Amino acid sequence: MQKSPAKLAKLTAILGDGEFHDGNALGESLQMTRSAVWKMIKKLERYDVQITSVKGKGYALSEPLILLDADAIRKQLRDKKCQLTVLESVGSTNDYLKALRKSKDIHFCAAEQQTAGKGRFNRAWYSPFGRNIYLSCLYPFQKDISELAGMSLVVSLAIVHALKQAGLQENVFVKWPNDIVCGGKKIAGTLIELSAESHGASHAVIGIGLNVNMLNDERGKISQAWTSMRRELETYFDRNLICAALINAMRDYLQRFEREGFGAFVKEWKSEEILTGKTVALKTVGATITGKVTGINAQGNLLMKLPDGEVRAFSSGDTSIVKK
Ligand code: BTN
Repeated sequence: MQKSPAKLAKLTAILGDGEFHDGNALGESLQMTRSAVWKMIKKLERYDVQITSVKGKGYALSEPLILLDADAIRKQLRDKKCQLTVLESVGSTNDYLKALRKSKDIHFCAAEQQTAGKGRFNRAWYSPFGRNIYLSCLYPFQKDISELAGMSLVVSLAIVHALKQAGLQENVFVKWPNDIVCGGKKIAGTLIELSAESHGASHAVIGIGLNVNMLNDERGKISQAWTSMRRELETYFDRNLICAALINAMRDYLQRFEREGFGAFVKEWKSEEILTGKTVALKTVGATITGKVTGINAQGNLLMKLPDGEVRAFSSGDTSIVKK
């Protein structure tokens, strides 16, 4: 695990103008030696960042790259008490926060890269350096785990809220339980890991993977249809602003959930979700069940009308719309 050094962010900010900058000038701007600059360039190349290097001219980035900057994110936060750690590289931001489980504060962790990013159902979450958001939140609840039903749906609503604020107005929906889709393609997903504490308290580690500036999956790692904010809006996003919007939304939604429960979000869920009225295949650990979605119940479980007419509630699974 490496903390994100501000110098690397400064270097990419300078190189991001598309012009060539020579090692000496970069060293002067960053107050470091030419060889230290060279080491940072090599580090960026190891992270798969495309750098053009021309003898006599110096280095240039082939496309903009604004790195995460903890101070820039903090400036945008409504609750200055939220703890935030920004890492250059980590196995998984969820695992990083699990080690802090004794904390009484809300703690966020974002990383430029995850080397062992985790998705739901033991899938891997492709986490290339500098392109997307890998953000986790450690949230200490004064509630028993059994009272957290519906929380994962609330998190999805918070993500949609932040995406809409960032300009993705149309075509963004929540797909029960934890996917955010845009034009039918996945743009974000959430992995929630819960643990019980003593005296009826609990901790949630909520990890969000959001595709922001990723244009291609060069390594062919993503098995499902996907999109990104940049693909949708054809513009490069400063992830610091998106990260701050996500943190603000998560904190507001989770605090309201803690006070008022899932009931306070049912109306919003109905207006943001995409499955009701559709024929859906629900993949659970043991089986795939097909039926027509009629909505959710008070606990946030998915209600499906099965071919025999019975309406059943499901608490977990992976959903896909069956095309007719
Ligand atoms: C899914 O849709 O399968 C959930 C993906 C969750 C990915 C995020 S990225 C940040 C956090 N750290 C992880 O290892 N996973 C989550």
